[in-house]
Amino acid sequence: MPAKTMDSLVSLCKRRGFIYPGSEIYGGLQGVYDYGPLGVELKNNLKTAWWRCMVYERDDIEGLDASILTHRFVLRHSGHEATFTDPMVDCKDCKSRWRADQIKNGKCERCGGSNLTEPRPFNLMFKTTVGPIADENNFAYLRPETAQGIFSNFKNVVDSTSRKLPFGIAQIGKAFRNEITPRNFIFRVREFEQMEMEFFVRPGTDEEWHKKWVDDRVQWWKNQGLTSDNLQLYYQTKEELAHYAKATVDILYRFPHGLEELEGIANRTDFDLGSHSKNSSELNLTARVDANEDSIAKLTITDGQENPPIVPFVIEPSAGVDRGVLAVLTEAYTEEQLENGTQRIVLKLKPHLSPIKVAVIPLARNNPDIVTVSKEIKASLLKLGIGRIFFEDSGNIGKSYRRHDEVGTPLCITVDYDTIGKGEQAELKDTVTIRDRDTMKQIRLAIDKLPEYLREYFQESANKKERV
Ligand code: GAP
Repeated sequence: MPAKTMDSLVSLCKRRGFIYPGSEIYGGLQGVYDYGPLGVELKNNLKTAWWRCMVYERDDIEGLDASILTHRFVLRHSGHEATFTDPMVDCKDCKSRWRADQIKNGKCERCGGSNLTEPRPFNLMFKTTVGPIADENNFAYLRPETAQGIFSNFKNVVDSTSRKLPFGIAQIGKAFRNEITPRNFIFRVREFEQMEMEFFVRPGTDEEWHKKWVDDRVQWWKNQGLTSDNLQLYYQTKEELAHYAKATVDILYRFPHGLEELEGIANRTDFDLGSHSKNSSELNLTARVDANEDSIAKLTITDGQENPPIVPFVIEPSAGVDRGVLAVLTEAYTEEQLENGTQRIVLKLKPHLSPIKVAVIPLARNNPDIVTVSKEIKASLLKLGIGRIFFEDSGNIGKSYRRHDEVGTPLCITVDYDTIGKGEQAELKDTVTIRDRDTMKQIRLAIDKLPEYLREYFQESANKKERV
């Protein structure tokens, strides 16, 4: 009986420490959220899965972590100063502001009035002062996409790694957009994270690579637990394309508020590298010193063949981390009616994404032997490097199971009197109970078999394809 309303997710996230409104003690800051103790683990696990798939499992992609503060000329010559706008409408009656495409039937969403201004462009970039003098010309932007840090470091990465085409640069990091109307929890916010990869290819091979990356990215989201039924591709029309794109395919996900964009895969052609090549003062200074002014386009690369260096085309899979977190939470959230008439909420996250991998629960928290063995098990499992192992000594086994169901802990290990040889079944000495979150089935396993069991269990989760 899944009840995947946004309210049920928001409530779970607040109650259990996944996500809180930003600056809440002063009434909150619209479009800004903070990730709590479990949210930060989930988010990190999603980012780790992306990085592993993009950088570690391939041999043609390098990583990067560029700065957030960005020279205004980078964002001028990327086209963002001129075109990174949304059409804004003011309600003259209640003074509220709206994105023009969100106005329904010509009426203000707040007061219902139709006394609206004509739409006008509103630039979404945040500016900030750099250094102690705050004058007109002394500002930088908070990057609105991580991509520009990749383009402006293209030459650095090529020079320092000797890469040839095709190859990519991956980056995960914060981006900022002064959205006119942030909404739908962490779906549309003003501060968010992106997982972006620019894949540089020879012009002419770009369309083939574009298709390939769309397929790869859909498969990756399925590996994170999203089901085919909730995923759909959308091919942007010419009118919808960003200023830099020749073609863009969006991966849509069925969020609680509707089918919306989770990731975009764009063919950015040579727009960015071409524009920075022409406009970069540093590159063009070098060109003049080299007495090589005819080759102004300096952001070039070879393909390892005899061909001259070229400005490559770029295929860009660009995913939102926060939207990814919302999608996996939506997919995993389940309300189940149990046979005994009670109900449980369970987050059926893929184990590699779960904030807590294993909860180790001493059945009697005031029995020193049980507590000692539990702590020893926690310490030994931590060495596996599979993530957070939680020592859960709240004292009530039923409540502990419910809590860990709700936060998506895939396995609970219980240490009881049998484990320490003081129970009724002598043959169970040095064994523990392992309870599975989804089936609630329990097995008994020897303590010394736990590392092997868990290693296999979590490896399988990371590698298993679409959830069944
Ligand atoms: N570099 C290309 C680019 O930034 P985009 O479609 O504007 O393209 C890429 O953004 C992804 O970033 C989106 O698919 C979405 O997941 C995420 N994203 C964009 N704006 C967002 C916002 N205001 N809040 C949360 N995520 C956002």
